[in-house]
Amino acid sequence: MPEKIVTNKDMEKFIDTTDEWIQERTGIKQRHVAAEGETTCDMIERASLRAIAAAGIDATEIDMVILGTTTPDLIFPSTACLLQERLGIPGTAAFDINAACSSFIYALSIADQYIKSGMAKKVLVGGAETLTRAMDWNDRTTAVLFADGAGAVVLEAATEPGVLSTHIHADGRYADLLGTDVGVSVGFKNEHNGGLKISMKGRDVFKMAVRTLGKIVDETLADNNMDKSEIDWLIPHQANLRIISATAKKLEMPMEKVIITVDRHGNTSAASVPLALDEGIRSGRIKRGDMLLLEAFGGGFTWGSALIRY
Ligand code: ACO
Repeated sequence: MPEKIVTNKDMEKFIDTTDEWIQERTGIKQRHVAAEGETTCDMIERASLRAIAAAGIDATEIDMVILGTTTPDLIFPSTACLLQERLGIPGTAAFDINAACSSFIYALSIADQYIKSGMAKKVLVGGAETLTRAMDWNDRTTAVLFADGAGAVVLEAATEPGVLSTHIHADGRYADLLGTDVGVSVGFKNEHNGGLKISMKGRDVFKMAVRTLGKIVDETLADNNMDKSEIDWLIPHQANLRIISATAKKLEMPMEKVIITVDRHGNTSAASVPLALDEGIRSGRIKRGDMLLLEAFGGGFTWGSALIRY
């Protein structure tokens, strides 16, 4: 996480909102914001080094780098290429994936296919965002939600699973409910930041997220012939505590079995699932052998899940 913290109380000073409103509607109390000049690559470099150390490997053993991000440093080269250079591992495949808040699950799914097919042995998978650079700080409907951060894992070929299954989906018919309306091909506007700002029809996104995440839970369990009682931990995308609670309720899981970071991190999009996973593991709550259900929903719409035996 970047060092700088902006609390809800801080936000009260420059937009028409209250700590009470934000906490009640979203569960967010504070968020981390990248310092001036601090980029997505700076954060994912730190997260990657920690993931490589946790995996107990040397960076040169990695044969692929996949980064989920909607807020790359540059349009190109990809941030995965910038990261690969910083890690000193030239020659490895490196690319970004943009599936908004589901980007990490998409990246994990691709890495899993490469490993299962034998085409890769060790894949660095990250999710990283500087979303606060893509939002309008004066728009209270989005500014209170989004934040910055990065998380990473090393996925390694092994004889025992591991990643049991991944599931990814998208429905472009809902593109207008959440996204930006400027870009390279469409063009930028003669406004601050080239007119780049996230716009969202929050209520519609909320309803779709709850409904869709319920369905992906069913799909994941059915594909693995598994009962919901067999899931030890839910590691959800951290968009809104009320959306997370609805998924936990569907799984009949007490909130103590759900990793929550949204209160301190806000919505870090692609970074939120690996950050929550990291917190669950480093805090000692998630133990070896536990069954984890990771899920995410984001702009596109995109959504996905991963079932993992830790
Ligand atoms: N502070 C105070 N009041 C506010 C704020 C604010 N920050 N924002 C909106 N309001 C007001 C609205 O203007 C509205 O006022 P009105 O009743 O006078 O018109 C009222 O609060 C209610 O607004 P709603 O938008 O209906 O509030 P809702 O309960 O739906 O909560 C929220 C809004 C938090 C955005 C919710 O809809 C949500 O979380 N949606 C889903 C977001 C999400 O999950 N995104 C997914 C992925 S993100 C990605 O892919 C990048």
